[in-house]
Amino acid sequence: MSIGDNTAGPLLAGRGLVKAHGRTEALRGASVDLRAGEILAVTGASGSGKSTLVHCLSGIVRPDAGSVTYAGLRLEELPEKRLSELRRTDFGVVFQFGQLIPELTVLDNVALPLMLAGTDRGRARSAAGEWLERFGVRGQAELRPGEMSGGQAQRAALARALVTGPKVVFADEPTGALDSLASEQVMTALVHTAREAGTAVLLITHDAQVAAYADREVQLRDGAVAPLGVTA
Ligand SMILES: Nc1ncnc2c1ncn2[C@@H]1O[C@H](COP(=O)(O)OP(=O)(O)OP(=O)(O)O)[C@@H](O)[C@H]1O
Ligand SMILES: [Mg+2]
Repeated sequence: MSIGDNTAGPLLAGRGLVKAHGRTEALRGASVDLRAGEILAVTGASGSGKSTLVHCLSGIVRPDAGSVTYAGLRLEELPEKRLSELRRTDFGVVFQFGQLIPELTVLDNVALPLMLAGTDRGRARSAAGEWLERFGVRGQAELRPGEMSGGQAQRAALARALVTGPKVVFADEPTGALDSLASEQVMTALVHTAREAGTAVLLITHDAQVAAYADREVQLRDGAVAPLGVTA
């Protein structure tokens, strides 16, 4: 069985995730399922643990307790080298704060994940250009990230997360720095791409209009998933 073939259950499942940062318990038993091709919105107040959840589910941070299963693999059981490889091939991550490498041009930033996976520079740059085009920032390809606006940088970061054709994209507030028109453009491009490629998306957002693009929404409260319909 190859990765992604286990259609019976969720593609990615976090169970009882606990993670403390010093004395702050960011996650207190959060459980989330993401099915192949599904777009799931995770909402919740600032500080409710959304970014920490993304870091645990994407294998960037090891939880203190609980488990993350991806395509039948328990991430906590994988050696670091295998986990990094899996992150490179199967996951695309858009972080909430800064992620582009300041010394590289925008085009090279987007091409980098492909080059790390062995694609030659010319091809990687050409694919990167197409992704920048989709997100409306091809005109900025030869700039350094610091020369772009926050919203343009976020779009370039999305292009970089999608360029390798990942199975799962984790997008932490991908429209946080965008006005409503630009948000709509980015979400339309993200949703279209995900649907076309069958990519699952875990979308973190504060914005109800952005969450409306998802198939399903779960809400985090105090580090755990709140029951549906309960808002207090
Ligand atoms: N590296 C860290 N060191 C200390 N505390 C942290 C760290 N990262 C997160 N926290 C704390 O953990 C809690 C959850 O943080 P997290 O970033 O997951 O929240 P969030 O839901 O993503 O918030 P926001 O909507 O503001 O991005 C917060 O109380 C935060 O202060
Ligand atoms: Mg956050």
